[in-house]
Amino acid sequence: MTTSARPRQRSGKSGKAAAYRMYIDGKFVDARSGRTFDVFDPASEEVIATGPAGGPEDIDRAAKAAHRAFYGGWKTTTAQERGRILLRLAERIRARREELAELETRNSGKPIAESEFDMDDTATCFEYYGGLATKINGEVLPVPADAIAFALREPMGVAGQIIPWNYPLMMAAWKIAPALAAGCTVVLKPAEQTPLSILKLAEDFEAVGLPPGVVNIVTGDGPGAGAPLVAHPEVRKIAFTGSAEVGKLIMRSAADQLKRVSLELGGKSPNIFFADADFENAVDGALFGVFVNQGEVCSAGSRVLVQRDIYKKFVDAAAAKARTIKVGSGLDRNNKMGPLVSAEQRDRVVRYQKIGRQEARVAVGGGVPKQHERGWYVEPTIFYDVDNAARIAQEEIFGPVMSVIPFKDEAEAIRIANATPYGLAAAVWTRDIFKAFRVVKALEAGVVWVNHIQPTFVEAPWGGYKASGFGRELGHWGVEEYLETKQVYVNLDEKPIGWY
Ligand code: NAI
Ligand code: MG
Repeated sequence: MTTSARPRQRSGKSGKAAAYRMYIDGKFVDARSGRTFDVFDPASEEVIATGPAGGPEDIDRAAKAAHRAFYGGWKTTTAQERGRILLRLAERIRARREELAELETRNSGKPIAESEFDMDDTATCFEYYGGLATKINGEVLPVPADAIAFALREPMGVAGQIIPWNYPLMMAAWKIAPALAAGCTVVLKPAEQTPLSILKLAEDFEAVGLPPGVVNIVTGDGPGAGAPLVAHPEVRKIAFTGSAEVGKLIMRSAADQLKRVSLELGGKSPNIFFADADFENAVDGALFGVFVNQGEVCSAGSRVLVQRDIYKKFVDAAAAKARTIKVGSGLDRNNKMGPLVSAEQRDRVVRYQKIGRQEARVAVGGGVPKQHERGWYVEPTIFYDVDNAARIAQEEIFGPVMSVIPFKDEAEAIRIANATPYGLAAAVWTRDIFKAFRVVKALEAGVVWVNHIQPTFVEAPWGGYKASGFGRELGHWGVEEYLETKQVYVNLDEKPIGWY
């Protein structure tokens, strides 16, 4: 048995690229087909690793292993033991923080300080669900005196989980931790762009006490590995984070087996600034909302709504500050913005920059920085005088592109904020608490911040309204997604039913 995700070095076209292997039934393995795919460093555009290109036969192996593990013991493992395993995994993440953060930055491009935050949040997520495992209670129900009725909470079985590339290890934690706390077993497919950090962490699975088959990581692309995971008959539930386009495909496929689905599909979140907001904080908040993690954030505050009284001053100040953002390799701590994850994502953002130049005015950026010979960089970009009906205000770009839209008053701000098919997140900045809470109640979004944007706590629910998906991750809501509810009725009356 191999105990490392990185057993050998490969030579040839990929140079010193490390050949990672996927993790199925407690072993690091290649794809049955023997095929691999390249994994890149977005700052250098070099191949830094290869991963096994998993296919239907690998998904089948993993799903069967997860099924065996579920019925072979995990289902009946005590909540205390499951909790301890999650806590030990959190300890390993804290112990390997620097190594995992560096790998995350190398593979995703994000600034190293952000990867370090991500590792802390990842560990916290496992700690939270480690604690929650022993607090999943059923309920006793108030039926008549001659009976007892209660509701049991039971794990669904094998959970299939498909995650994106923007927060690779953290997204894995948001999926794996609540599923294990609930008592489910897991087949997780990481994004093909960023499989490395979770495969690295899998080196610790056995040592923390995870039995073989309880967590399986199958690498590969969407059609090759993701689609067969959704279609696999042993998989009871699919949890997905990614594009709305793939979310729809998953729902259609899951319908065939009436499989449970939860979807987190990003958005076009409004970040609303009233004239009475603290000006400096507001400008910072507008930039942070859409430039953190290069704007590759499902809850990015990509539509910045600014009250007309401060509009001109706000756009100028935001543009001036955006010009100071250092764009470059995420490993250099001076840089505040790294490259986008892939050439494909860079091209997508460049396409939207071009659309934006036609639809609105450019305050700053709007292209690709000149100083880099390599790397999938784009300029932090601010468009203003954007019409909310414009494509750059309606379509998710998933890059550092801000669309600034002016508004007159509270009613207009609310109307524009909600005029999008999405409803993941929103933020409102004002010193008037009456206005703040009126707006909070009027916004159609699953997450709303007041005088801040993006802070995310594992204790609080995460998920969207409308086309941003359904189901909630994190907090006690997160574990609900992996639980069935069984009603039990116990008759205490020994007389016959007496109906016939
Ligand atoms: P995607 O939705 O294609 O990929 C996300 C995950 O789904 C990956 O693991 C991928 O392999 C998998 N997948 C793809 N096709 C599949 C299929 N047919 N069946 C099952 N799984 C499948 O996202 P992509 O193409 O990487 O990015 C495109 C856009 O999607 C982005 O520009 C952004 O707008 C949005 N997106 C939103 C995210 C969010 O956090 N809500 C995360 C990533 C992307
Ligand atoms: Mg895609």
